[in-house]
Amino acid sequence: LQPKTLRGKKVLITAGPTFEPIDPVRGITNLSSGKMGYALARAAREAGADVTLVSGPTALVTPTGVHRIDVQTARQMFDAVMLHASGQDVFIAVAAVADWLVTNASAQKLKKTADGALPHLEFALNPDILAAVAALPGRPYCVGFAAESEELLKHGKAKRERKGIPLLVGNIGHATFGKDENELVLFDENTEVHFPHAHKQLLARQLITEISERIHMDPVH
Ligand code: C5P
Repeated sequence: LQPKTLRGKKVLITAGPTFEPIDPVRGITNLSSGKMGYALARAAREAGADVTLVSGPTALVTPTGVHRIDVQTARQMFDAVMLHASGQDVFIAVAAVADWLVTNASAQKLKKTADGALPHLEFALNPDILAAVAALPGRPYCVGFAAESEELLKHGKAKRERKGIPLLVGNIGHATFGKDENELVLFDENTEVHFPHAHKQLLARQLITEISERIHMDPVH
C-alpha cells in the first residue's frame, strides 16, 4: 500500500492527446494513450491527494476517487487547467498537447471535388499550458514530461530551464506511446535520477514519492 505522503495536498494532472478539428468528423491528434497520466492520477490519489485529471480523448477508465474533466482541444485543456490551477500544490503536465491548431477548420465536412482540388489547412500555435502554469504567482510545484526522439539528456536539461520548472521527466526511448511500460530519467536543478524499465503504474508510484519528498523538502519552489 502507498504511504499517504500527499495527504491534504491538491494535485492537478493533464493526460492523453489533444484533438484539433479540421472539420466536424476529422482532426489532428497523436498516439498518446493517456496511460502514464492516468497512472500518476491513481498513484497521487493512493498517496492521499485530492486529484483533478484534465484528460484529452482516451479509452481509459477514471481511477477511483479522481475528479476527471474531459476536453478535446489544447485550448480547452488550457482553459480547464487555468480554471483549476489556483490552490493546487502540484501540477504534472503529462498530456501530449498538439503544438498547432487549425485556424480554418470547416463547419461542414470537407468534400472531395471533381477536379481533385486539395484542402489547404492553416495553423496557429497552441498555448503552452505548462509554461503558463509555471508563470503563475504562487504556482504549484510544476513537473513536465519530455518525449524526445534523440539526445534526451541534452534536450531534457534545456527544456526544464526553458519551461522554468523544478522537475522534468524524460521518457527514455520514444516508443513509449501506448505501451504499458516505460523507462524514465528525472532532471532537477542538480541531479539526474534514473527509473529503470518498469510498468507505468510502478513508475508512477516512484515518481509520486519523489515529488512528495521534493515538496516537503522545498515548500517554496
Ligand atoms: O515543449 P514540449 O511539447 O516538448 O514539452 C512537453 C511538456 O510540456 C509536457 O509536460 C507537456 O504536457 C507540456 N506541454 C503543455 N502545453 C503545450 C505543449 C507541451 O503543457 N502546448
